[in-house]
Amino acid sequence: MSRKIYVFDTTLRDGEQVPGAKLNLAEKLAVAEQLAKMKVDMMEVGFPSSSQGDFEAVRAISRKIGKDVWIAALGRAVESDIDCIYESIREAENPLIHIVLGSSEVHVSKKFRKTPQQVIDMGVGAVKYARRLLPQVQYSLEDASRSEFEYLWQTIEAVVKAGATIINVPDTVGFAIPDEFGKLIYRINDRLKNLDPKVLLSVHCHNDTGLATANTLAAVKNGADKVECTINGIGERAGNTALEEVVMGISLHEAYYGGHTTVDTRQIYETSRMVSATMGLDIQVNKAITGENAFAHSSGIHQDGLLKSKDVYEIMDPETIGAPAMEIVLTARSGRHAFMHITRQLGFDIPEESMGEIYQQFLAMADAKKEIYDNDVLTLLKNSTIPS
Ligand code: KIV
Ligand code: ZN
Repeated sequence: MSRKIYVFDTTLRDGEQVPGAKLNLAEKLAVAEQLAKMKVDMMEVGFPSSSQGDFEAVRAISRKIGKDVWIAALGRAVESDIDCIYESIREAENPLIHIVLGSSEVHVSKKFRKTPQQVIDMGVGAVKYARRLLPQVQYSLEDASRSEFEYLWQTIEAVVKAGATIINVPDTVGFAIPDEFGKLIYRINDRLKNLDPKVLLSVHCHNDTGLATANTLAAVKNGADKVECTINGIGERAGNTALEEVVMGISLHEAYYGGHTTVDTRQIYETSRMVSATMGLDIQVNKAITGENAFAHSSGIHQDGLLKSKDVYEIMDPETIGAPAMEIVLTARSGRHAFMHITRQLGFDIPEESMGEIYQQFLAMADAKKEIYDNDVLTLLKNSTIPS
């Protein structure tokens, strides 16, 4: 059996940072319930010190869903934030305090205006404080991918000795390149497993150059134990790593990645639609895994191949993500085989001798209309003399 890769969903924290995507309490609870049904291992559900509403939502989710899944909430490396996190998640069965503090030169010198050692001391103090409250503490080195390696490691070593149980390496601004990010994770993992093999190594990638999924998978290949993602890849700016892409990537290539997740992939489609509808964020039609066209085939050559055997052009069965069956989209590029398939689905059995003429009528219609729906085919057939 391959090693387990933990899936941490942050749709209700990083995902909710999308302008206009703010949810009310009932909506957050509904999304959290669906995420639990999909069996993510951990979910981050807010930043409780940011507002009373966020605090209450985190507490309500911890009470209602906190038996099935780890509940995490985020805060800065300051005691007041950590107190707030603790109060909001303590009723969950597996609560996780998530502390974030920058580690890159720009964060240390320009954002905090502190010395590198002062920032490490701040992190260590925060982790020690959090560990007095709860046994599970995640430490995120914000902007890790742009940090100087030895300083990054010095920080990791110090916070692990202070009690951090998960080390999260974010590519906060989506700057990383898969090959280099993989090497970074390899180097950290190598040292971390010597320092304390129980500590989980996690990654959190952003999609500013469209590489969040590639970077996350490169990290898994190089030893990451945990991936942070959002549904449909929503999140700050260009978004986060899309959960459905990483989970299906790992599942399709388990031997290559040497790992598996325990997400119930059959819930992916439903979760994706629910998050999109509740947050009012459309899914791009060609979005990998969950886009409307992800299992729609329009080229004649592809349709013909698929009708002979689905695996000619499908690398996964739509059922594995709970999506409707593959769709043959009739266009002027569709061949006779695809056209006949649709007419049969609609209950018509066209005699061979009539087929040539009706297919020509179909092509003329497809040229004029671009895309042909079932109703168009029905109209075409009803105006002919074909028996149904
Ligand atoms: O992008 C980021 O660095 C974050 C951290 C809080 C993990 O969201
Ligand atoms: Zn983030």
